[in-house]
Amino acid sequence: MFKITFVIFLRILICSKTSLSAEIMESAKNEQYCGEKTVEKGFYYGTFPEGFKFGTATSAYQIEGAWNEDGKTENIWDRLVHQNSAVIADGSNGDIAADSYHKYKDDVKILKELGVEFYRFSLSWTRVLPKGDVSVISTEGIQYYNDLIDELLANGIMPMVTIYHWDLPQSLQDLGGWTNEIMAEYFEDFARVAFSNFGDRVKWWITLNEPWVQSVLGYDFGWDAPRLNLHGVGGYLSGHTMLKAHALAFHLYDKEFRPSQKGKIGITLESFWMEPKTSDPKDLEAAERALQFELGWFAHPIFSKNGDYPPLMKQIIGENSKKEGLKRSRLPSLSSKWIELLKGSSDFFGLNHYTSYLVEADENGQDPSWRRDTRCKTSVNPLWPETGSPWLKVVPWGFRKLLNWIKKEYNNPDVIVTENGVSDKGGLADKQRVAYITEYMNEMLKAIKLDGCNISAYTCWSLLDNFEWLGGYTQKFGIYSVDFDDPERRRTAKESAKAYSTIIKNNGFLKCQDI
Ligand code: GAL
Repeated sequence: MFKITFVIFLRILICSKTSLSAEIMESAKNEQYCGEKTVEKGFYYGTFPEGFKFGTATSAYQIEGAWNEDGKTENIWDRLVHQNSAVIADGSNGDIAADSYHKYKDDVKILKELGVEFYRFSLSWTRVLPKGDVSVISTEGIQYYNDLIDELLANGIMPMVTIYHWDLPQSLQDLGGWTNEIMAEYFEDFARVAFSNFGDRVKWWITLNEPWVQSVLGYDFGWDAPRLNLHGVGGYLSGHTMLKAHALAFHLYDKEFRPSQKGKIGITLESFWMEPKTSDPKDLEAAERALQFELGWFAHPIFSKNGDYPPLMKQIIGENSKKEGLKRSRLPSLSSKWIELLKGSSDFFGLNHYTSYLVEADENGQDPSWRRDTRCKTSVNPLWPETGSPWLKVVPWGFRKLLNWIKKEYNNPDVIVTENGVSDKGGLADKQRVAYITEYMNEMLKAIKLDGCNISAYTCWSLLDNFEWLGGYTQKFGIYSVDFDDPERRRTAKESAKAYSTIIKNNGFLKCQDI
C-alpha cells in the first residue's frame, strides 16, 4: 500500500519467465535433484556455501509497543498514528504492537525453535535517548536492549542491530528531521551511545535501514512519517543527510570502537528489480535509470569505485533544475571530503528485496519530483501472483537478476540479504509464504552457485506479524502469527516457520521430499 503505486496497466502482458539455461542443467547434475521435471521448473537442488548464515528480522516500532513506557518519548511514527490514524489502513498504531518490550523472552524462544543463527532488530531512538540528543540517556532503555542481547547470546543467537529503522525522535523532526544536515551529527551521537553500551556483545551493526524509503516516502511523496510533500527537494535533502549520517557512524565505529570490539558495520539498502517492459532501447535505458534512482542513489556513493551520486542522477536532476529556473540542482552536491568519507564506508552490502516492476520510459511527468526526475513509469505483469500487499507481487527470478546487477555494478561486494519476505491476510497454513521463501531462496542459491555472486547471509522478514506501517495490521509478514486480540500476544508458528527451519537445517535444498 505504501510503496510505489505507479499506474498499473491492465493489459495482459507476456510473462517474462527465466528460461532455464544449459548452465543450470549442467550444474544441477552435480547437485542432488529430482530429475528432469523439477529442473524444467527451474528449481535448483544444492546447498549454501559453508558458513552461510540464516536469520530473521523485525524493527522496534513495528513490534515493541510500550510507546510511552519507562521514559520513552514520541517519535515521528507515534505522532503520525496518533494525529492522523485515518491514513493507517485499519486506523491502528504501534502503541502495543507485538508487545516485544515485555515479551522479548518469547521472541528469543521462537528464534531458538526456528534454529536461526542471528536476529536482526532495531533500536528505538527515543527509548534510548528520550530527548533525541545525548543530554539524557535512559537507563531503562539501555537495560531493555541489554536484556534482549543477553537473552539472545545465552541462547546462541547473534544479535544484528539496526541503529535506525525510521523512528526519528519527534523533537528532532521539529528541527527539520532528515532535511536538516545537523541530523547526521545527532545520529552519530546516538550511534556512539549504541556502540559504547552494546558493542562489547554486538558484532554486526547496520547504520540505517532503507534511506530511499525514508527519504522518498517520508519527504517527497508525503506518505510515511513525517509525511511531508516536499516534492523534488525534500527527498534529496533527506537522502543527502542520511548518507552523511551513515558515513559519520561508520568512521566513528571504524576508528574508535572496531579496534577493541572487532565487529562489522554496514548499511541496508532496498531495491525492487526493474525489468524493461519491452526490448525497445528506451525501455532498457528506463529500467537502468530506475535502478540508479533507487538503489544507485545510495549505493554509488558507498560501493562504486569513483564514489559520489550516480552520474545519471546528477545530470538529469541538474538539467531539470536548470529548466525550472533554479540556481542550483535540487540534488545537493557531495564535496570531495564527503565523497572520500563515503567511498568504501560499509563492510557489507545490506540488501532488502521483495518484488519487481516492469519499467518503461515516460516523458510526461508533471511537477518537479523524484518520480518525474526518473522519467519512468512502472507497472506489473498481471500474471504475477498477488499477495497481501498491493505493491508486492511474487517474482522470484527478479531477485537473481538484482543480485547479478549488484555484482556487476559494484564489483561483487559481500551481500547480506537483510530482508526478504511476503505478506498475506493471516492464517497458519501460509502456503504462499512457504512457496515465496522457497523460491526466492532458491533464486539466491542460483545467484551464488551459478552466477558467482558473493552472498553470505539471508534474513527472512519477519519473525512476527507486526505493525506494517500504513498497512497497520492488515498485512501480515510474520512466519509466526501474533494474536493481537490476546493481551498475552501469543506467538504461534506458521507453516512457513517450519519450512524455513527445514531449509536452515539442510543448509539449502537437498531433495524434493525435503521441501
Ligand atoms: C521494508 C521495511 C520493513 C517492512 C518491510 C515489508 O521496506 O524495512 O520495515 O515493513 O518492508 O513491507
